[in-house]
Amino acid sequence: MPSLPSSRPILRVLAIGLTLACWAVAGPVAAQDVVGDQRSMLIDINPGELWIQRGEALFRERRGLKNVSLERCDFGLGPGVVAGAFAQMPRYFADARRVMDLESRIVWCMKTLQGFADEDEAIRLRHSTADREADVVLLATYVATQSTGMSFQPRQDHPLERRARDLGEYLFHRRMGPMDFSCATCHGHPARRVRLQSLFNIQDREQAARAASWPAYRIGQGTVRTAQHRLADCFWQMRLPELQWGSDLSVAFISYWTHAARGGVIQVPDLKR
Ligand code: HEC
Repeated sequence: MPSLPSSRPILRVLAIGLTLACWAVAGPVAAQDVVGDQRSMLIDINPGELWIQRGEALFRERRGLKNVSLERCDFGLGPGVVAGAFAQMPRYFADARRVMDLESRIVWCMKTLQGFADEDEAIRLRHSTADREADVVLLATYVATQSTGMSFQPRQDHPLERRARDLGEYLFHRRMGPMDFSCATCHGHPARRVRLQSLFNIQDREQAARAASWPAYRIGQGTVRTAQHRLADCFWQMRLPELQWGSDLSVAFISYWTHAARGGVIQVPDLKR
């Protein structure tokens, strides 16, 4: 796969430089405006765009024990159809007998089509490290981008799709963990903040659509992150036990926030703080 290791530090420097410039220019302006400035200044050069091309190359590359590409992977609209597929996920997949989000489905195809195993780094590594970009992140960025500009229309036809959404709603509002927070403690009210960060409100469709727009380039982390990574991050903030990536529980949360975003516009790769 074509890699850009040498250009990444440059991107990072660019992003950090711009961020600092924004802070310097913005000075005493309200925190929200600073972030707005960061976004609008970076929006034309969203570094996340680079992940799309690399993701597509990886998608088309023959790999794994079976030496095939992912071009036959079925994201719900038929083998190999990626246009608009993300817009209808999470959804039920009869072959797996589960509701899956995009990342779970990619992993499933890597295992069943390509023959990767759980212990292979291609599967194990779910978020990028300083040494290696995670395959799932690159692939998810490519596939999700094929729904950019469309609206979120997650499916609700299968009973398990409804159950995942309902379970997600229940869990979102349930207080858990040593700090007795629910997700709604931070994301269930208008204009709530943690320090300088404004928090999305699940009851606002536009905010929910933005919140559901993953993968996204995270300026503060200098790389692209996924929905599962964001969820794991909020689990950590709540001091919950570590999130099991791709678990039914993780898919339930993602189902719920995607339903809250229904009709809102998909912006992938998004650019986030
Ligand atoms: C203690 C407060 C807190 C709790 C509790 C919390 N989060 Fe978050 N959440 C945050 C913060 C802070 C951010 C990052 C905001 C930013 O950088 O714009 C965030 C971001 C998010 C985002 C992405 C928003 C966007 O606009 O991109 C999602 C989705 C999300 N949280 C889901 C959840 C879920 C699901 C739970 C419950 C499992 C949860 N959060 C619990 C603080 C919290």
